[in-house]
Amino acid sequence: MTDDPRRLALTLLRRIEEEGAFANLVVPSMLDRSSLSRSDRAMVTDLVYGTTRLRRACDALVDRHITSPPDAATRRILRLGAYQWGWGGVPAHAAVHETVALAPRRVRGFVNAVLRRTVEGAPPSDIMWPSAASQLSVPDWIFDLYVAEVGRDQAVASLERMNVPPAPVVRDDGYVQDQASTWVADAVDARPGERILDMCAAPGGKATALAAKGATVVAADLRPQRAGLIADNAQRLGCDSGQLSVVAADGNSPPFTSGQFDAVLLDAPCSGLGALRRRPDSRWRVQPSDITVLGALQQSLIDAATALVKPGGRFIYSVCTINGSESIDHHVPEGWEVDRSQPPGEWQPFGSGWRVLPHEADTDGMVLMRYRRTT
Ligand SMILES: C[S@@+](CC[C@H](N)C(=O)[O-])C[C@H]1O[C@@H](n2cnc3c(N)ncnc32)[C@H](O)[C@@H]1O
Repeated sequence: MTDDPRRLALTLLRRIEEEGAFANLVVPSMLDRSSLSRSDRAMVTDLVYGTTRLRRACDALVDRHITSPPDAATRRILRLGAYQWGWGGVPAHAAVHETVALAPRRVRGFVNAVLRRTVEGAPPSDIMWPSAASQLSVPDWIFDLYVAEVGRDQAVASLERMNVPPAPVVRDDGYVQDQASTWVADAVDARPGERILDMCAAPGGKATALAAKGATVVAADLRPQRAGLIADNAQRLGCDSGQLSVVAADGNSPPFTSGQFDAVLLDAPCSGLGALRRRPDSRWRVQPSDITVLGALQQSLIDAATALVKPGGRFIYSVCTINGSESIDHHVPEGWEVDRSQPPGEWQPFGSGWRVLPHEADTDGMVLMRYRRTT
């Protein structure tokens, strides 16, 4: 494996773009197999995550100096050069020189000419962008969805914030979790001795937080391999196995008798449109049709989850996206009322629930809904 960070970054970008590799899996796994220094690893991560997040903006930056579109491999090299100069803090000369060195001989002159003209031009903050979506580096449909949900100003602020890597928030027990996710776990209001189901629990961030409050937690997830991650995390954090048990189970047909839990948390599979900063490639992966499919899955998980709660018990629903079609448009069955008390954290009212946008408190964008069973 190469020990040149830029060359390794280019290989990783190819795997993400052409093979559909997940950035947050393939980058750590290749870095673990490399002999790169700590600072070179940080550089590779920034180059790959940054160039992936800003793929569309990088293209717009260089396209101002291109007359016929390059092949995919050359395009990738140009993006990497544009990212370094435009956003990565690399001086113009180094961004051009080091990137041209990665190009095969047949396109080296072209890459050199385009990158030189790019760095001689205005920086990203001063150019006329073809559109706001291209400047924010998201597909048009994601920009339009945000504008429809929260208005243009809030959409731009949210999407801008999701182009900046998240600052890790480390819990007292050492688990790294987004701040808004800790607020979701707090909103469950778990008490010692309660029996709580976390229906979609992997990798276990919220389930371990609930167990730490003294509740007896059943943590379920559809895929056995992901359920294994919950068990690994529980063990690493020193969770008592009597306090947290792990089950691989489909939430649509849960292997539990009805009405047996004091509370059920459904942190549902979702489009993740509020967590784009955390998964650099997801903006290019998720499709509008996924929202419809996920909406139907979420509704059927809500129906199954609510049946498992005791009379007087609680149902808590959360998603790391900001759109109503994956949250407040869903309904709970008869015999439930909305819990309208303000949950802990910086949530804003949103329909029958609560929402936080990425720029409001520098968290993932999320929606939270809480209900109490009346019958
Ligand atoms: C948002 S993640 C959960 C994150 C977790 N609550 C945490 O805090 O660490 C959603 C999870 O739902 C799981 N999932 C998807 N479909 C499911 C189903 N039908 N039944 C149970 N789990 C499912 C996915 O495997 C994924 O791990």
